[in-house]
Amino acid sequence: MRARGMGASVIVTEIDAVKALEAAMDGFSVMPMEKAAAVGDVFCTVTGNKDVIRAAHFERMKDGAMVCNAGHFDVEISLPELRAMAEGEPVRVRPFVDEYRIRTPAHTQVSAGMHKRVYVLAEGRLVNLAAAEGHPASVMDMSFSTQALACEWLALCAAEGKMLAPAVYEVSEEIERQVAEAKLGSMGVAIDELTPEQEKYMASWQEGT
Ligand SMILES: NC(=O)c1ccc[n+]([C@@H]2O[C@H](COP(=O)([O-])OP(=O)(O)OC[C@H]3O[C@@H](n4cnc5c(N)ncnc54)[C@H](O)[C@@H]3O)[C@@H](O)[C@H]2O)c1
Repeated sequence: MRARGMGASVIVTEIDAVKALEAAMDGFSVMPMEKAAAVGDVFCTVTGNKDVIRAAHFERMKDGAMVCNAGHFDVEISLPELRAMAEGEPVRVRPFVDEYRIRTPAHTQVSAGMHKRVYVLAEGRLVNLAAAEGHPASVMDMSFSTQALACEWLALCAAEGKMLAPAVYEVSEEIERQVAEAKLGSMGVAIDELTPEQEKYMASWQEGT
């Protein structure tokens, strides 16, 4: 959304049909990574998954393509595969920018036998943390509030003798709402409240049918 706001033509790749549909309905081009690889100038992975950009994709990329990751650790871009395809060691062309030179297959836009360059930003680590200043306090305040309230909830569970089985638990809607209300308050944003009639209407299937 931000990149599009700045005039970029943005492609979304997905593995989840619902997310892909949302992106398509929001007006983004949606296509598999193998197709997008040949089109993109800048790639940014944000999936929490591994090997999202890998050899088959590097092969199709344009000369000068840039790849970076803002998702999970440094595993979303397969650097081992890129290293294996590259000739020689990557060259650090400027801080946080490594150039990999790949001998290109004949079908790409670079003539056969020539090198294609792929640039990796911040060694494939979280680019906004490794090569920039991370999130501003105005974003982290929500993360930390959520974490603090989730810890409080855990402590309350323990205090009440409620043992939780080891698992991943969703943060409750109540905590999410508490954080949202506090944040909106700090931003001076007010919202509407349901009237008692509206509340009744929303909870009933008998009215308005
Ligand atoms: N850099 C940062 O500051 C920062 C901030 C927040 C979250 N994160 C990280 O970003 C990652 C994503 O977080 P999120 O909350 O957006 O998660 P999310 O689950 O909401 O979104 C990830 C999306 O990636 C898709 N996906 C998974 N594998 C894919 C693949 N192989 N190809 C294409 N799409 C794929 C999923 O379907 C999902 O829609 C996490 O690793 C999280 O830790 C980083």
